[in-house]
Amino acid sequence: MISVNEPLLGDRELEYVSECVRTGWVSSAGRFIEEFEQKWAAYCGRKHGVAVSNGTAALQVAVATLGLRPGDEVIMPTFTIISCALAVVYAGGVPLLVDSDPRTWTMDVNQIARKITARTKAIMPVHIYGHPVDMDPILEMAGSHGLAVIEDAAEAHGAQYLAGRHGASPFWRRCGSFGALSCFSFYANKLITTGEGGMVLTDDAELANKARSLRNLCFQADRRFYHESLGFNFRLANLQAALGLAQLERVDEIVARKRRMGEEYNRSLKGISSLQLPAEEPWARSVYWMYGVVISEKTGMDAQAFARKLAGHGIETRPFFLGMHEQPVFRRRGWFVNESYPVAERLARQGLYLPSGMALTEEQLEHVVKALQEKLK
Ligand SMILES: Cc1ncc(COP(=O)(O)O)c(C=O)c1O
Repeated sequence: MISVNEPLLGDRELEYVSECVRTGWVSSAGRFIEEFEQKWAAYCGRKHGVAVSNGTAALQVAVATLGLRPGDEVIMPTFTIISCALAVVYAGGVPLLVDSDPRTWTMDVNQIARKITARTKAIMPVHIYGHPVDMDPILEMAGSHGLAVIEDAAEAHGAQYLAGRHGASPFWRRCGSFGALSCFSFYANKLITTGEGGMVLTDDAELANKARSLRNLCFQADRRFYHESLGFNFRLANLQAALGLAQLERVDEIVARKRRMGEEYNRSLKGISSLQLPAEEPWARSVYWMYGVVISEKTGMDAQAFARKLAGHGIETRPFFLGMHEQPVFRRRGWFVNESYPVAERLARQGLYLPSGMALTEEQLEHVVKALQEKLK
């Protein structure tokens, strides 16, 4: 079976992790944590990094850092992972959903304005499958309505966005550099992995301090075991940061490889009329975190049937996200019941992603392409 994702770990990872084992710095103190935080923040063009135990925790810390009150609303795409909604729900907030853009599958920025109410506090754009959200209109809307932006860049390590493209001096910015706070996951299938891990980035020293405190049970700095706020234990281990730092040393190579893989799939599959391939807008540099395709209904197959066919050829796939408005856990609470988001609904039924991990070989990619060409002639 060609697996949908396998990480590529090398000697440097082993060397740094071994150092932790040798020196005993295996928990959440040790040299690798701060170094990883600082270098990841710098890579993304940010001032501060707060490493946490996973990407879901990063979103929770970011939302808690903003100090949402019960009933406060956060606008997000319906087509995303449940972590985005959970972070808001756990804070007593309310997720407001928008549909996806049919080309990029990221949130349709034209649907945001009509969702804003007096209770809305933030917008949470998510760079789906490594393609940037169109950030300019979001930042503009957030600015004019006094909303915070929490950027979910979990899937977009190293992706870039051409900011200010309608102005005189557009410039490329890395995903993770936008808004009050941005969040990353370093799960094993991400471009940079720590095994399990995540990070919150910000340019604001006060927000960074708050996030750091929330991550570590809100211990008081000058009086241990004394707490004035509700915190979490979302600490990352030095062992994990060691892995991440080793990965970060070759981030350029990793990003280039992912882009090459995406472009190779694009070139090889573009003749198959029953497949919609990932778009790359002129203002975006996608990292093709996972190479997604949407299969036409005309084939008589949905993504599940298509996945079974590919499994028969030894190819593992994963289905696309199921929209938040279709999640039983929310429907049972009476949320989103009369809401419909046709683009996300179609993506959930017809979309899947192909093997696209760092360890995928050229031969494996060719095998996947051949199987698709054969099945969808
Ligand atoms: C867009 C997005 N946000 C958040 C997360 C949560 O990250 P984690 O799995 O590390 O909790 C993921 C996970 O893959 C994700 O894809």
